[in-house]
Amino acid sequence: MKILLTGARVIDPARKTDTTADILLEDGKIAKTGTDLLSSVKSKEAVKIKIIDLDGMVLTPGLIDMHTHLREPGLEYKETIASGARAAVTGGFTSIACMPNTDPVNDNRSITEFIKRKASEAALANVYPIGAISRGSSGIQMTEFWDLKEAGAVALSDDGKPVMDAALMRHALEYAHSLSLPVIAHSEDTNLSAGGQMNEGYYSTILGLRGIPSIAEEVMIARDILIAEFTKTHLHIAHVSTAGSVRLIRNAKERGIQITAETAPHYFTLTDEVLQTYSTSLKVNPPLRSAADLKAIREGLADGTLDAIATDHAPHARTDKELEFEYAASGISGLETSLSLSLRLVQDGVLSLPDLIAKMSLNPAQILHLPKGTLAAGADADITVFDPHLKWTVDVGAFCSKGKNSPFHGWEMQGKALLTIVGGEIKYSLPSLKI
Ligand code: DOR
Ligand code: ZN
Repeated sequence: MKILLTGARVIDPARKTDTTADILLEDGKIAKTGTDLLSSVKSKEAVKIKIIDLDGMVLTPGLIDMHTHLREPGLEYKETIASGARAAVTGGFTSIACMPNTDPVNDNRSITEFIKRKASEAALANVYPIGAISRGSSGIQMTEFWDLKEAGAVALSDDGKPVMDAALMRHALEYAHSLSLPVIAHSEDTNLSAGGQMNEGYYSTILGLRGIPSIAEEVMIARDILIAEFTKTHLHIAHVSTAGSVRLIRNAKERGIQITAETAPHYFTLTDEVLQTYSTSLKVNPPLRSAADLKAIREGLADGTLDAIATDHAPHARTDKELEFEYAASGISGLETSLSLSLRLVQDGVLSLPDLIAKMSLNPAQILHLPKGTLAAGADADITVFDPHLKWTVDVGAFCSKGKNSPFHGWEMQGKALLTIVGGEIKYSLPSLKI
């Protein structure tokens, strides 16, 4: 099937292009990009082509979320691979990489293969499994990296838990490097964060909730930068939330250390001040930080210290969240609000639209070594189209994700995915697009 997408503002950070153009998709690939492609196809052929007019819309390489939690196997009541993949395409993502903290943990090839099989049965977004660094992510014994890679894992992480043993982290980095597998660090010193419920600061004091100090994140990032420097390997840092972390990463990059890093939309949108409602939808790990941290995160995005925006989509059921704050699960269901929240960075003048798209597509593809993130001829036809002006109100009841745990319920947003194409097939279209 051929699809001709006409008249959109086409942004491709990989080729540094940003122009009004048409794109022809054929056999799951991008056949060509140019102006007035419609007149170049013969009229007999045109009847066999699905033509979609996208005047006024933005068309980009398919968005990639490099940090998603799907809950299958084991916790399907929170999210399945299929429900998470549906949430992904609805949010404009054509590819997602899923963290291994399922039950059981994705620490062996049979689970990696199971995730891939379920994802291909769902046939929605591309799903790339991330394997665990340690068995059961318990931080003691390394998993079989080579086996995980052969089964389809694109990276390694114990996300949800840190690797507290520095020697294990050193060996993981060295061995993963020899297999070209990126290691993703969940940076948290659990001795410093123990029992913490929210950011340590003024608001934790007045609310009487035990705090998680920013140094719980920063000491681990400092440690892992030293290990990456010593071993001359690449390390990716997940969900950066503090000003000190941004400073450490910026400095490491200046010194030529192979560090990449991501943050999530809630860290550049909300501060710990909102915890005054005691709403457990705001409970997340790392926690929402101070206004100074939020400012530093935005600066880190603007100057390139933070390479990627990832959702850290962490779906939970009502029974996990409707509890006393202390007992509630941490996490925000993020796939269906990430694009709109990230577009605020453009609206606020923090990032240009092409720079934002690079952080949501090209850069995650490069970090995970995925052959994605470009609209060049011959590339997979993974495409996101959004309306940058469309106003809408977040309604968690309308989420495709089973996780309705979002602090953004009721928020007015501007900008929404209209059309998500994966491998040349339309996997999502906003009903109002009428195609
Ligand atoms: O808030 C979080 N939720 N942070 C994590 O590191 C894990 C995640 C989850 O799996 O729910
Ligand atoms: Zn996570």
